[in-house]
Amino acid sequence: MKILYIFAHPEPRSFNSAMKEAALRTLDEQGHEVKLSDLFAMDFKPVLDRRDFLQPKRTDVFNPFMEQMHASKKGTFSKDIMDEMEKVTWVDILIFQFPIYFTGFPAMIKGWIDRVFAAGFAFNPATGSMYEAGLLRGKKAMLVMTAGADEALYSKGGAHGDINELLRYITHCTLGYTGLEVLPSYIVFGAGKMSEERVRSEISSYIERLRSLAQYAQKN
Ligand SMILES: Cc1cc2nc3c(=O)[nH]c(=O)nc-3n(C[C@H](O)[C@H](O)[C@H](O)COP(=O)(O)O)c2cc1C
Repeated sequence: MKILYIFAHPEPRSFNSAMKEAALRTLDEQGHEVKLSDLFAMDFKPVLDRRDFLQPKRTDVFNPFMEQMHASKKGTFSKDIMDEMEKVTWVDILIFQFPIYFTGFPAMIKGWIDRVFAAGFAFNPATGSMYEAGLLRGKKAMLVMTAGADEALYSKGGAHGDINELLRYITHCTLGYTGLEVLPSYIVFGAGKMSEERVRSEISSYIERLRSLAQYAQKN
């Protein structure tokens, strides 16, 4: 399968980076074609603004949605966005890996989505192109996340509540909105302070999950 691995962690020696390295090795061993968007390493600009549009439709007033529609039609996004869109067009599965910040995306991933899943490219309300009719239909996505909190806190009845319900704004309202079919999330809880032994065992479990990605993707 063709996989885009979208990764956001600012520290190469972090647990997240160790997971990413293991993932790239494993996916390669499994014969997948993988492209990596390592957003901090790329110094990716995570904020949607006027600079995203090389030939704006209007220069007197900035309307981000209208400019995205216009740039999608004309192919006039800035190069960093066009490069990411090309990868998204190529892909079968997008894997997003990141540490959970305030029970959601860190800004880097949110910004990638704001800019790359642009109106007219990933969805189009004007033509009803959303959810099952979203412009990314036929492709899949999976979230891989680490959480500082223990699983009990993110369970039904726990202080935060059920993580999968809390993340529905991502899995359903964001990824699902563009037509992506979302695979079950992979979450490492209690990732803030881990022994070396636990790090090794978590990496092994993640490798196992990735080894069965193809079967998983077919089943779901
Ligand atoms: C700004 C910020 C917000 C965070 N918010 C949460 C949170 O809402 N829930 C949680 O479980 N952990 C939260 N954490 C903890 C991180 O998710 C945790 O440190 C990370 O997953 C550990 O992975 P790492 O060692 O690769 O950095 C937060 C950390 C930071 C810096």
